[in-house]
Amino acid sequence: MTKRLDQRVAVITGAAKGIGRAVALRLAEEGAFIVLVDVDAEGLASTAEEVRALGSRALPMEADATDEASVQHVIDEALARFGEIHILVNNVGGGKAGRIWELSVDDWDAVMRLNLRSMFLFTRAHDRSQKRPDHLHVLGRAQRHRLERLLSRRQRLFDRQGRRPRLHPRHGDRAGGL
Ligand SMILES: NC(=O)c1ccc[n+]([C@@H]2O[C@H](COP(=O)([O-])OP(=O)(O)OC[C@H]3O[C@@H](n4cnc5c(N)ncnc54)[C@H](O)[C@@H]3O)[C@@H](O)[C@H]2O)c1
Repeated sequence: MTKRLDQRVAVITGAAKGIGRAVALRLAEEGAFIVLVDVDAEGLASTAEEVRALGSRALPMEADATDEASVQHVIDEALARFGEIHILVNNVGGGKAGRIWELSVDDWDAVMRLNLRSMFLFTRAHDRSQKRPDHLHVLGRAQRHRLERLLSRRQRLFDRQGRRPRLHPRHGDRAGGL
């Protein structure tokens, strides 16, 4: 039986554990090939094994999502292996929690670097490699909220046209933190 994401390729950052791993396994269940990115080599190998056990293909890439050259290398390798990237999940993020007066400037810079720089680097590296840069679903940490907005926008549009909304984003829809 054909799965919903057969032959689709997804790049997921922070895929060694937690939410990134869970997203990787869910997309693999749907048939997607998964490019796993993380700084944790051991966790990466374990998620890759789980993806393969689901009958999909996995490309584990040990890389720092905030490093420009590393990110470019991931995108180049993914394209060399699979030819195209359809889904980019900019999952890495987070940072030190605390009251603003307790945070140092270095803490702030680290948050910006991990959350925004990583997303900028991956999205730009991907887009530069494409003939059709809009041919991609970009999902960030705010993905649920953004997707809901996207779908409700579409709902309004379809309400006006008297048709039912689609439940899945189309190519060109962008949901993410950029
Ligand atoms: N867990 C939650 O309740 C929650 C809630 C809201 C948002 N989020 C966000 O979701 C994302 C994932 O959360 P999580 O709980 O799964 O985190 P996690 O700490 O369990 O996993 C994060 C993964 O990212 C990897 N990573 C960290 N820095 C990296 C870097 N520079 N390059 C590549 N990989 C790197 C880590 O090695 C780890 O495998 C984060 O952005 C987090 O802020 C989490």
